[in-house]
Amino acid sequence: GDCDVLVVGSCMTDLVSQAPRLPKAGETIHGHRFFIGFGGKGANQCVQAARLGAQTAMVCKVGTDFFGDKYIENLKNNSVSTEFVSQTDRAATGAASIIVNDAGENAIVIVAGANLLLGEEELWGAEPLLGRAKVLVCQLEIRPDTSLQSLRMARERRVRTIFNPAPAVADLHPDFFRVSDIFCCNETEAEILTGSTVTGPEDAGKVGAELLRRGCCSVIVTLGPQGCVVLSAEDSSPLHIPTATVTALDTTGAGDSFIGALAFYMARYPTISLEEMARRANQVAAVSVQAVGTQTSYPWRKDLPPELF
Ligand code: RIB
Ligand code: NA
Repeated sequence: GDCDVLVVGSCMTDLVSQAPRLPKAGETIHGHRFFIGFGGKGANQCVQAARLGAQTAMVCKVGTDFFGDKYIENLKNNSVSTEFVSQTDRAATGAASIIVNDAGENAIVIVAGANLLLGEEELWGAEPLLGRAKVLVCQLEIRPDTSLQSLRMARERRVRTIFNPAPAVADLHPDFFRVSDIFCCNETEAEILTGSTVTGPEDAGKVGAELLRRGCCSVIVTLGPQGCVVLSAEDSSPLHIPTATVTALDTTGAGDSFIGALAFYMARYPTISLEEMARRANQVAAVSVQAVGTQTSYPWRKDLPPELF
């Protein structure tokens, strides 16, 4: 069938503890709530795009275990195609231990497990679909060479690409920039990639310009409550796109909601400007921070104002 958005990326079981603050090294503190959810940046982005109405598919790997079985069920429940989801008994389904403080901030440790066994073989298996997709989205929770290869395959087949360098590494392979139509990162990731501090739109514009010079077509630096900054090769002057002020309950996965929405707009509204897509994606992500969890907080099309469509 048709595919608007193909994500080659991660699935993680999120083990979330809510606590008044993040513990220090060696410290034990009491939290007030624990829950298990479906996460992983790849699947989060895919599920958000699907909930907005995109035809989506995931190329990913989970374990042959309880969490893996449940994850596949979750993708199906969200109308994400699982034709290219594989299971392995050589590693466990990826897991993320997440602590969320009362300010809605988080700290996360991921153990990628089965995600790291996704490779070339699976990419070639999904190649017919990849070639027909409108947008391919990748992150860094699988092996970097798997992400890079899928971006290269997409570029060769004229499929538009969004690359989200998360979690960021300082020594990112330079080819990632050359095969990304849109390079989308948050302020922390931008800092790690450039070595410059990002506190607001002005700094974001500067690091965005630096990232743009490395060879992508457009850069988006997301800034949480300050919205985002957009730059493109044709018009490299940074454009700040503010977002509505909301009370954040849990910002975990808000960046993924933004990217999933962006992928949806690129696939389904290819003629609107990147600035307008970012403005709308800001609004989708702002809804997600007002509820706990990652995918549990992502809105469906029916929950959003009609002017977003
Ligand atoms: O971006 C949020 C995600 O990061 C969480 O769902 C967690 O799984 C980690 O991968
Ligand atoms: Na949330």
